[in-house]
Amino acid sequence: MALRHPQLTERGELRHLLTIEGLPREMIHRILDTAASFVGVSDRDVKKVPLLRGKSVFNLFFENSTRTRTTFEIAAKRLSADVVNLNINTSSTSKGESLLDTIDNLVAMHADMFVVRHAESGAPFLIAQHVDRGRGRGHVHVINAGDGRHAHPTQGLLDMYTIRHFKGDFTRLRVAIVGDVLHSRVARSDIHALTTLGVPEVRVIGPRTLIPGGLEQLGVRVFNDMREGLRGVDVVITLRLQSERMRGALLPSAQEYFKQYGLTQEKLALAAPDCIVMHPGPMNRGVEIESAVADGPRSVILDQVTFGIAVRMAVMSILAQS
Ligand code: CP
Repeated sequence: MALRHPQLTERGELRHLLTIEGLPREMIHRILDTAASFVGVSDRDVKKVPLLRGKSVFNLFFENSTRTRTTFEIAAKRLSADVVNLNINTSSTSKGESLLDTIDNLVAMHADMFVVRHAESGAPFLIAQHVDRGRGRGHVHVINAGDGRHAHPTQGLLDMYTIRHFKGDFTRLRVAIVGDVLHSRVARSDIHALTTLGVPEVRVIGPRTLIPGGLEQLGVRVFNDMREGLRGVDVVITLRLQSERMRGALLPSAQEYFKQYGLTQEKLALAAPDCIVMHPGPMNRGVEIESAVADGPRSVILDQVTFGIAVRMAVMSILAQS
């Protein structure tokens, strides 16, 4: 008998959002459809909706963030939740309090949802297991906002929302993910989402030192030559070099990397004429992407950020119903 993933209830409802791996296709579509209903309310002049009124959402960011933390805060406020941004640097974790003791104290303050970013892969999973066993059982939800190199499910979902918005049907696409796949939680979440949604050709492009083994088993084609890998693709997702997660020298230099794997107008010309360019941010211009591409007509990078609000609203509102 297959073991149930702790992010789903026995009835298949979303209890936590920890990873896209194993998330049923119907659930991904439900999140994207719910997000579509919120895109209108993401406009500045549209009023809030009361779906999380009386609920407290705690943002626990143990690692830096601009886009994810801020869009979760905006999303929670648009759903009428009370939002608490715990300042990790001034919290009691800096006095030696354990992660789970911090969680117990926040549950005692009637937290309803934790949005967790952590440098350690598995930290949100650990918190979810802990609240399911303890005082938070049944009412506290955990959302993974990026853990180590493991998963970044809401980024994966907002990437799928963006692709669906610009391209429609997933089942006719060629999608290329370029760069430091080895250290990228976004790449892992995108690969699981794209293959679950039926994208027939998912490509990964990068130097051998930055491509993990075993991708072929996930149904992914690996290219070490960028020009070859970009040929005819409909979507290109460019990744940042995750130097903070690299151990040892994996690349000759940033300049050499840009020459081989930087997305330039000249290389992009090999993709389909209407290919869109995505990047989860933060971007390193002149390292993985040329400014003319990042700011060019094919770039949907800032659309991704805006859609992130609606997607995070969708995830939180679906969790609140379980
Ligand atoms: N894409 C992303 O996770 O960006 P932040 O690190 O700014 O949240």
